[in-house]
Amino acid sequence: MGQLQERYKNYREPQKYMAAGVYPYFRAITSKQGPEVEMDGHKVLMFGSNAYTGLTGDERVIEAAHKALDKYGSGCAGSRFLNGTLDIHVQLEKELAEFEHKDDALCFATGFSVNAGVIAMVVGRGDYIICDDRDHASIVDGRRLSFATQLHYKHNDMEDLERVLQKLPKEAIKLIVVDGVFSMEGDLAKLPEIVELKHKYNCSLMVDEAHGLGVFGKQGRGVCDHFGLTDEVDLIMGTFSKSLASIGGFIAGDADTINFLRHSCRTYIFSASDTPAATAAALEALHILQEEPSRLEHLWDVTNYALKRFKEEGFEIGDTESPIIPLYVRDIEKTFMVTKLAFDNGVFINPVIPPACAPQDTLVRFALMASHTQEQVERGVQILKKAFKELEIIK
Ligand SMILES: Cc1ncc(COP(=O)(O)O)c(C=O)c1O
Repeated sequence: MGQLQERYKNYREPQKYMAAGVYPYFRAITSKQGPEVEMDGHKVLMFGSNAYTGLTGDERVIEAAHKALDKYGSGCAGSRFLNGTLDIHVQLEKELAEFEHKDDALCFATGFSVNAGVIAMVVGRGDYIICDDRDHASIVDGRRLSFATQLHYKHNDMEDLERVLQKLPKEAIKLIVVDGVFSMEGDLAKLPEIVELKHKYNCSLMVDEAHGLGVFGKQGRGVCDHFGLTDEVDLIMGTFSKSLASIGGFIAGDADTINFLRHSCRTYIFSASDTPAATAAALEALHILQEEPSRLEHLWDVTNYALKRFKEEGFEIGDTESPIIPLYVRDIEKTFMVTKLAFDNGVFINPVIPPACAPQDTLVRFALMASHTQEQVERGVQILKKAFKELEIIK
C-alpha cells in the first residue's frame, strides 16, 4: 500500500453516516433547480438552494444560454487573457460595472476563483489582510495564498476588529475582506461600522456579495447598496451561481485596480473563461433582475413569512436578516438525522456541520427563492416542525 493510501484508509467518517442511513450529500436531482425538484421519481420541496431570484428555470435565461451555445459553441478553450474572450464577456463586465456603480469589472469562471485569485493578488508582502472569522472558504483560501500578513477578528465583533487594526502601521496597505451576507447564518456584515473603522485606520475594504446580490439593495445590487455604502467599498465581489442562475463570478472596482488584476490575477489569466452558455445566462438574469422588481418583493414576502413562522413555532434562528434561515440543532448526529427525516417527508434542506460552523453551532440551512409560494413555505415549516419535535430539538 502506498503512503497516500495508508494515510486515507482510516478516513471513514462519511461511511459512518452512510451505514446509519443519514448521509446527506450528493443527492441527485433529476429536474431543474426550482421551488420543487424531482429526486428518485418524487417531488421534493427545495429549501436548500442559493437561487434566491428563482431564475435557474426561467425560460428566458434558458433560451439565452441555448442561443449562446449555438452561436459560440460549448467552451472557449482558453483564458480571457488569450483566446477565451467573447463579446458577451466584455458586455457582461461592462454591465456588471454599471450595475455595481464601479468603473470596471472582470468575470471569472467561478466565484471561488474570484476570491482565491483577487485577494491573493491585491495584497502582498508588507501588507495586511484582515478577515471576519466566518468569512467564506474562498476568502480564507485567497488570504492563505497571499504573501500579506494574515489577521482575523471575531465574527461581526467591531471591538475586536478595532483591536486588530489599531496595532497596524498607518501607512501600510490593510485590506479588510468580509462576506456581505454570511452564507450559513444569514446575518449581515456590520458595514456602517466597518466603513467607519476603515477610515479611522486608513484601510481598504472588499465585500463578497455572493448572497447579497439579487436579494438586497436597489434592483438587487447587494448589501453595499442596501447600506448606501457602495462608494466606500473598494472592491465588490459577486457570483453568478446564486441569484444570476448560472456559474461564474466577478470583481468590480476602480479602473486602476481592475487594470492591474486584468493583467496579473492568476485565476483570471491562467484559467479558462466562463463558458458561452454560462455567460449569456448570467447576462440575461442580470437584465431580468433589473426589469422585474416584483421578483425581489416576492422574495422578501416569503422570507418575512418564513422568519415569522419559524419564530412562532419556537425554532432557534439566530441573527438572520436574509432569505438564509439557520435552524439551529446544536448536535452533529441530530443535524444529520433531522435532514434525513425532512427529506423522507419531502423537504430538501442542507446540514451545516464543522468546519462550516463550530461543533456546538450545527444547524440546517433553510433558504428561500422568489419562486416559492407562501403555501410551499408553510408546508416546509410544518414538515420541519414535526421532524424537529420528533428529535426533541424544539418543544
Ligand atoms: C460567500 C461566498 N463567496 C464565494 C462563493 C463561491 O462562489 P461559487 O460557488 O460561485 O464559486 C460562495 C459559494 O458558496 C459563497 O457562499
